[in-house]
Amino acid sequence: MSYAPGSETIGIIGYGNQGRPHALNLRDSGRDVVVGLREGSPSAERVREDGLRAVSLEAAARCDVVALLLPDERMGEVWRDHVAPVARDGQMLMFAHGFAIHFGLIQPLAGMDVALVSPKGAGKWVRAMYEAGSGLPALVAVHQDATERAVARAMDYAEGIGATRVGTRTTTFRAETITDLFGEQAVLCGGIPALIQAGYETLVDAGYEPEDAYLECVYEAKLIVDLMLAQGLAGMRRAISPTAAYGGQRAFHRLVNDQTRTEMKRLLNEIEDGSFAQEWVQAAPAGVPVPPGAEPLDAARASLMQEWPEWRPMGAPTSAPRP
Ligand SMILES: NC(=O)c1ccc[n+]([C@@H]2O[C@H](COP(=O)([O-])OP(=O)(O)OC[C@H]3O[C@@H](n4cnc5c(N)ncnc54)[C@H](OP(=O)(O)O)[C@@H]3O)[C@@H](O)[C@H]2O)c1
Repeated sequence: MSYAPGSETIGIIGYGNQGRPHALNLRDSGRDVVVGLREGSPSAERVREDGLRAVSLEAAARCDVVALLLPDERMGEVWRDHVAPVARDGQMLMFAHGFAIHFGLIQPLAGMDVALVSPKGAGKWVRAMYEAGSGLPALVAVHQDATERAVARAMDYAEGIGATRVGTRTTTFRAETITDLFGEQAVLCGGIPALIQAGYETLVDAGYEPEDAYLECVYEAKLIVDLMLAQGLAGMRRAISPTAAYGGQRAFHRLVNDQTRTEMKRLLNEIEDGSFAQEWVQAAPAGVPVPPGAEPLDAARASLMQEWPEWRPMGAPTSAPRP
């Protein structure tokens, strides 16, 4: 079947972290975009201020491409109540993450294309990098190719949000979903914050100044990650002092040991067997419990910003020169 890139209407459902940047980038890339919102949505005004057209969920769901950019745990009900009743063969259902399809919250019509374009990063960067003339790289996967043009349609969407300016990788819904959830839990949103907080608390409990502990355990974490991204792990180790390198290798296996790796494997198993997804969908109405103990770190940050008004914790160089 022939396909003209950029020719289809795109309904973006949800105007949050990902929905807004996707809608704005697609519009600025010349695509025909509307934004579907629930009745009385607080986002309607922002959509209008951004120069886009806000429509009902059902109206957006009638577009050629329907992008569900909602909290993953809400996708099932929005699909059931607003999208499925108007769904038709030949449409493309688009996602930024595979959760709802992989864990069976949504069963699309057999005649629909189903794909994901998952930018590797938060929505604010999807927009900021696009505006800077670049983009965020993205994973692309096709779950269902009813029209035999699902890949072309997905790549057209990836181009519209700016991802192809940098690069895309083809994957599967399963791999995208599992690796994303595991990365969030074991490293990005679980492991790293826990390690940072435990390091801070160890110093403060031993009587050291909270501001000094903050600089060492929080602020410098960004600098070391920036070094790893810019120069690789080996380059980072070459760039730090021999004392830091020696002390680091000494702590390396004591902190991440067999017990830590066993826990990581357990987290992965719970994601793979679907028990995490089931637990989260059931727990979501009660909201997300916040681990205790973050306030002192944020107070130390505020204290430093007051002491050093010129200090920009985010303002450190984001890339070091290549070796
Ligand atoms: N956040 C990230 O950095 C990131 C990165 C990569 C991929 N993703 C994926 O992108 C997708 C969207 O995530 P997100 O973080 O952008 O979501 P989000 O910001 O939490 O989505 C908020 C939007 O969803 C709407 N919404 C929530 N519940 C609704 C309901 N029951 N009916 C209708 N609309 C509803 C909200 O409507 P109102 O405006 O009316 O409140 C709002 O516009 C997910 O699949 C996620 O996994 C996210």
